[in-house]
Amino acid sequence: MYALIRPLLFAMQAEKAHYFTFRLIKFIARIPGMKAFLHALYNPTRPGDQVQLFGLNFPNRVGLAAGFDKDAKLFEELACFGFGFIEIGTITPRPQSGNPQPRLFRLLKDQAIINRMGFNNEGMAAAAYRLSKRKNKSVIIGGNIGKNKLTPNEEATSDYIKVFDELYPYVDYFVVNVSSPNTPGLRELQEKEPLTKLLHTLQQLNNSKPLRKPLLLKIAPDLSHQQLDDIVDIAFACKLDGIIATNTTICREGLQTPANELQAIGPGGLSGKPLTRRSTEVIRYIVQKSEGKIPVIGVGGIMNGNDALEKIHAGASLIQVYTGFVYRGPSLIREAVETIRNHKK
Ligand SMILES: Cc1cc2nc3c(=O)[nH]c(=O)nc-3n(C[C@H](O)[C@H](O)[C@H](O)COP(=O)(O)O)c2cc1C
Repeated sequence: MYALIRPLLFAMQAEKAHYFTFRLIKFIARIPGMKAFLHALYNPTRPGDQVQLFGLNFPNRVGLAAGFDKDAKLFEELACFGFGFIEIGTITPRPQSGNPQPRLFRLLKDQAIINRMGFNNEGMAAAAYRLSKRKNKSVIIGGNIGKNKLTPNEEATSDYIKVFDELYPYVDYFVVNVSSPNTPGLRELQEKEPLTKLLHTLQQLNNSKPLRKPLLLKIAPDLSHQQLDDIVDIAFACKLDGIIATNTTICREGLQTPANELQAIGPGGLSGKPLTRRSTEVIRYIVQKSEGKIPVIGVGGIMNGNDALEKIHAGASLIQVYTGFVYRGPSLIREAVETIRNHKK
């Protein structure tokens, strides 16, 4: 079915296509009985696909990565396609409009996307309100949290605390996002000192709650081995529940898209096929360095079942997709779930 709709979507400007898809899915899902029908049609999950991780029971290993449903507007409908979990966000305390458009570009020759959205979102109160109305309690929801663009890094911790507190009642796990290339200076928070401070403070808050929630860190693919070693140390020191590897890259090496087109697009994070190998390397490095003691959610360039399997073989416990979902539609979820099921070592 997606093969029929894709030419229409790809004829539109990328961000317009995104919102059009949202409206289309909402419209279709409103038809009585349609959610159950979509679930029956698409959901590939079988009993053996389940995974227990961070005290949560994931129906399968394939999730939707952050940035697709930034404002928690569509997670119930998206769950019908068979995702094992859905990460909303990145959510900031106050609403912000993000960078000027155009800010989302398809690189067809590379099966990739460049984005510089800049955490456009309606803010934590709007997301919390929508999540509070959630009907389907069985879908696992991750809350990906960030800081507002105008908040200086020295005050970033208070932004993360605010969003953590606001979303705490409604999400099943949290992801601290310090790895987006599109908020100026954000990635500096990945350095040892500020990151340790941020995560310690969040864990203190987490531990003060009646029931602590799994806390994960999402990292960039552009970190050096030394920086990854630091991340592993910090993960142990701050008792993180896991690491999400990786966000988009600022690297532009080896692309088929001509240099002048890339120049016209400008800065942003690259995702999709050109990211596959690098993100798998980062996953493998973290798993080896931590001797498998830190669970990793693998994300970056999963475009087919084999890419998904490679992430699992590199040591990822779960995986997420974004760009592959844009290029392939819901069939990617089934392919990933089934390939993992059939080939898992
Ligand atoms: C348009 C777009 C927006 C994104 N927004 C976010 C975001 O808000 N927060 C975040 O942590 N990651 C965000 N990401 C990164 C994805 O979650 C994912 O880590 C990255 O795209 C690599 O996976 P992929 O190759 O499957 O797309 C975004 C990616 C894209 C393409």
